[in-house]
Amino acid sequence: MNQDININKKSTFFRLISYIFKTNKLAAAIVVLCIIITTFTSLASTLFMRTLIDGYIIPLTQSDNPQYSMLFKTISKLGLVLLAGVLCAFINTRIMIKISQGTMLRLRKELFSHMQTLPIRYFDSKRNGEIMSVYTNDVDTLRQTAQSLPQFFSTAITLVSTLVSMIVLSVPLTFIALIMAFVMLRATKYLSKRSRKYFTAQQTNLAKVNGYIEEMISGQKIVKVFCYEDKVVNDFEKINEQLRISSAQANKTANIVMPVNGNLGNLSYVLIAVIGASLALGGYISLSIGTLVSFLSLNKSFSQPIGHISSQINSIIMSIAGGDRVFQLMDEKPEEDDGKKELIIEDNATDIQLNHVNFSYVEGKQVLYDINLNAEKNKKIAFVGGTGAGKTTITNLLNRFYDIQSGEILYHGEDIKQFTKQSLRHNLGMVLQDINLFTGTVMDNIRYGKLDASDQDCIEAAKLIGADDFIRRLSDGYNTRLTANGGNLSQGERQLLSITRTAVANPPVLVLDEATSSIDTRTERQVQKALDSLMKGRTTFIIAHRLSTVRNADCIVVLEQGHIIEMGNHGELLAKHGKYYSLYKGGNV
Ligand SMILES: Nc1ncnc2c1ncn2[C@@H]1O[C@H](COP(=O)(O)OP(=O)(O)OP(=O)(O)O)[C@@H](O)[C@H]1O
Ligand SMILES: [Mg+2]
Repeated sequence: MNQDININKKSTFFRLISYIFKTNKLAAAIVVLCIIITTFTSLASTLFMRTLIDGYIIPLTQSDNPQYSMLFKTISKLGLVLLAGVLCAFINTRIMIKISQGTMLRLRKELFSHMQTLPIRYFDSKRNGEIMSVYTNDVDTLRQTAQSLPQFFSTAITLVSTLVSMIVLSVPLTFIALIMAFVMLRATKYLSKRSRKYFTAQQTNLAKVNGYIEEMISGQKIVKVFCYEDKVVNDFEKINEQLRISSAQANKTANIVMPVNGNLGNLSYVLIAVIGASLALGGYISLSIGTLVSFLSLNKSFSQPIGHISSQINSIIMSIAGGDRVFQLMDEKPEEDDGKKELIIEDNATDIQLNHVNFSYVEGKQVLYDINLNAEKNKKIAFVGGTGAGKTTITNLLNRFYDIQSGEILYHGEDIKQFTKQSLRHNLGMVLQDINLFTGTVMDNIRYGKLDASDQDCIEAAKLIGADDFIRRLSDGYNTRLTANGGNLSQGERQLLSITRTAVANPPVLVLDEATSSIDTRTERQVQKALDSLMKGRTTFIIAHRLSTVRNADCIVVLEQGHIIEMGNHGELLAKHGKYYSLYKGGNV
């Protein structure tokens, strides 16, 4: 995983921190204060050992008439200090949970609203699963960072402050402690490097398992159609086993780190005790018993965090990888709207003109060449042509899902770029090739065309389109809940609903991309009737796969590999004996 992280590690890290604490400045300050207090109270209690032993216990044991009151006073003071430490640790944990949950909430909200501003191009070039995983996995790694940051911080100040205290107590012993700490660091580094390799493999295999499951769920029907159930199970077992092996190795290595460090820490303790005592007894250094005891405790709190550092650094590295993906989505450029004017179409009709339009989705791969056409008021323009000819692409230009490279598109004589995208899209009713229905009732889905439409408006539209009949026959009529993109409806019914949705919007210009999937002739006739009633009195672009639709069009545009090769009405084109004629004879329109 480490290799995947781009060179912006540092900036991502700081951006992450500032993001987490951006709206929580006060809370962050309290957390920092609490951490400092907690660390220093624990340090104070360790140092207190020296005062306790050298200042009270030893004099008391030597005194004939020991006075304990001072001792109790001092111990109660220490008790208060420790209590403050515990309290701060408690407050700190509570605040951090609040901060990290708040950060997640805000991140998801910002990501989602930002996603709504992105152009269609973004969604066309990304897999849904990839975008989804930003919301789930990546946001969650950020939560983990938010929670581990204070730990990291407290580890750092513990290390520094104990080191300083150790030096103050005894320089020679500090020297021994540092050598041992160095050995521990090397050991940790060696072990965590190995475990990191296995953790990376584990994450990769985990992603593979997830990906495979997702693919098999969505492709379940195909699996059954081709009777691949056994094969699929076998394949799954293989990658599942790989995941088990890499997780086992990763955890095995990771689990060694703690005991190894623990034992090295104990060794350091013993070494310092023996060496320190011998040096003091031999008179080489001056060292009181209290100082030695304090030093030994300090050394414990010094060596303990060393083992944690590597896992904390690991978790921070992982969250930087997650943060990178989150910020990538956040930094994705929103769809620009340079139009200032509102497009207003009176009398429900407008002229639309395309002049010398050239277009490509990706540079160097032109899809449309020099498209010229004129859609007059209330006229029906039909596009025909083979698959991939560029029919859907033209409709993507009319609503500015994509912008053209050269040429111009005019709405009653004015350039399309002058109009705000919102007003443009409000005026265009689109029935797309791929039908999308949302989770909700039939009524909700129809109302999606115009959010302030009344129930009566929706029912009227359904009647106009001829969808009313089938809707009433559903188990709950208009209140029937649709599941997963209307999976509980037939293909034709889904089409009728999607047309009704556009009818409610009552747009002046219509763009219809007929679904290619075949439906039975009765439903087809119904859909045809629905379209006819919808097209009345509007300028319409229709991508037609049905002869009946095409025949009624005022102008038929024949496309081949991005070029217009013929144009005219049904009679004219037949008389030409060209491409249209052969498509017609072959039953392809
Ligand atoms: N988002 C996209 N990015 C890159 N290329 C695309 C994209 N969408 C379509 N294309 C390419 O543009 C060309 C025209 O596609 P288009 O969808 O307009 O065809 P179509 O005429 O609607 O075909 P069909 O009848 O199958 O719907 C095809 O070669 C296609 O591969
Ligand atoms: Mg198409």
